[in-house]
Amino acid sequence: MNNSKLQVAIDGPASAGKSTVAKLVAARFSYIYCDTGAMYRSTTLKALRLGYPLDDEKVILDMLNGTEITFEPGEKQQKVFLDGQEVTNDIRQEDVTNNVSTVASLGAVRKELVQRQQDIAAKGGIVMDGRDIGTTVLPNAEVKIFLIASVDERADRRFKDNAEKGIHVPLEQLKKEIEERDYKDSHRAVSPLTKAADAKEIDTTSMSIDQVVDAISDEITKKQTL
Ligand code: DC
Repeated sequence: MNNSKLQVAIDGPASAGKSTVAKLVAARFSYIYCDTGAMYRSTTLKALRLGYPLDDEKVILDMLNGTEITFEPGEKQQKVFLDGQEVTNDIRQEDVTNNVSTVASLGAVRKELVQRQQDIAAKGGIVMDGRDIGTTVLPNAEVKIFLIASVDERADRRFKDNAEKGIHVPLEQLKKEIEERDYKDSHRAVSPLTKAADAKEIDTTSMSIDQVVDAISDEITKKQTL
């Protein structure tokens, strides 16, 4: 029985339910949870607030070098802090969501954030979610999961999520935004969204959250008992 603290990589397109299940899986195994999308979102939020050009790699990298992004466990969701100030809700607003792909396509910015993510994951016992975790950030992760769901289902989940937060965006618009983000995330030059060859794909379209958490937990337990 090998109970060592594993690295668990969870990738997939926008709104496939990664953070919801990743957080629950982490809690089940007493692992740390790291939402790497929140790091790209926090970088985007700061650049927007400062009025910086989002496609200027040098400007954004210089800014990032003087930026601290940290996490704290929260009751409903993980809390995110940007230079010591909580931005958990701010980074989910539409202007950040619609601009984050631009910042996430900057090679130097990705390099810096990937390094920070590798430092966070170095000791294992981590569930990390994003787009390039299994392929680039943690290529040696013992467990790699690629979550997918239909665009309709993902738009529907975002719509319900938004409603809970008091954000009102029409369903059709959400669908369009998800399709656009899928395209940008999969077609960028640096670390595009792709499934790692050794990742297990799970289609969550007609699965409950519990079923997805159980399926991922089974994969972890299998590796632990190898
Ligand atoms: O998972 P999310 O929607 O919070 O991610 C926000 C954006 O950040 C998304 O458009 C893709 C990008 N991202 C990325 O390029 N690499 C990651 N590891 C995580 C997110």
